[in-house]
Amino acid sequence: ERGAYDDFMEKEIAEQPAVVGRLLERLLPEVADGRLWSRTGLAAPARLRFLACGSSRHAAEVVARTFGLLGGVPAEVVVASEHDELVAPGSQDGVLTVAISQSGETSDVLHALDAVRGPVLAITNRPHSSLARRSDAVLETGAGPEIGVAATKTFTAQVVAGAALAIAHAAATRSLSRRAVAQHGLQLGSLPGRLAAAHTTSFPVAVALAEELAGARSFFFVSRGAGLPYAAEGALKLKEITYRNAEVLPAGEFKHGPIALIEQGTPVLLLESGDPARLAGAAAELAARGARVIRVGSGRTDTFPVLSGPAPAWGPLESVVALQHLARCIAVALGRDADKPRNLAKSVTVL
Ligand code: M6R
Repeated sequence: ERGAYDDFMEKEIAEQPAVVGRLLERLLPEVADGRLWSRTGLAAPARLRFLACGSSRHAAEVVARTFGLLGGVPAEVVVASEHDELVAPGSQDGVLTVAISQSGETSDVLHALDAVRGPVLAITNRPHSSLARRSDAVLETGAGPEIGVAATKTFTAQVVAGAALAIAHAAATRSLSRRAVAQHGLQLGSLPGRLAAAHTTSFPVAVALAEELAGARSFFFVSRGAGLPYAAEGALKLKEITYRNAEVLPAGEFKHGPIALIEQGTPVLLLESGDPARLAGAAAELAARGARVIRVGSGRTDTFPVLSGPAPAWGPLESVVALQHLARCIAVALGRDADKPRNLAKSVTVL
């Protein structure tokens, strides 16, 4: 039931701190000693290949990066529907395939797995799904049912579960010191509080901004490195529930062409990731051309001041809360049904 909330998306955005809290209660005790990884029974992989679609693919980008950073395992992300095109049958030795899917029923993912010969680890919200049955090991995200078509709490839970697994893998394989493992664990443990703060801070800002931005036809989502999957996730939310166009760009790419699209008032969401100074050049360039720059970061004068402290290995997860709110508030301002966008189903069971 959606209770006092206007729609399920609003409720599910608000649930994120609690979902992550419950998830960490279950996973954190098994992170520092590596048990979360070792009890999968999987051999240490030489390479990881993530398979996913949509929001789950953005979570896969974050988790792949975290595995690479902490465990030194080369990891690639393959769009599930492109698996046949991209993965040569002979390129599977030593590869662990990690399939990320909320529903565990996405046909593109299940079809891609038909061609996989090695071990498969599933990260899913549905432990009895077709994906879970097909996999050698399952990490359950436990986000509870998500009614809104747009993924919100299930995306966040995928990121957190995947990051916990990456830290546990680094602990089990000793690629990180105990001290470093403990530090990453502490950062994970602080996430429920950070997500709750991001929620409280960003909701009123999003309501006010939505009035201003509802008329804009086209948006840019810009970041660097670990921030890019969150920029992509924010752009996807905006596209699917407001039907506005949104483009995702690494900050340095603007000057190679897309800057020509900037007009007076074009909204550009600028997501801090690591050192805020790394976005200063792009911000100044964009502002000089009249862009409406909306900063999501750690500065007190940022539009959405949702980040604090040193950047964790999984990047600026809290920014996604601000972007979910913004997309939803614009959808509401435009009179769209945020829970049931046109042309979309919750689970895509066609190829
Ligand atoms: O159930 P899955 O995670 O496999 O679904 C994949 C995508 O269809 C899904 O993430 C979709 O992109 C979201 N509903 C977008 O909000």
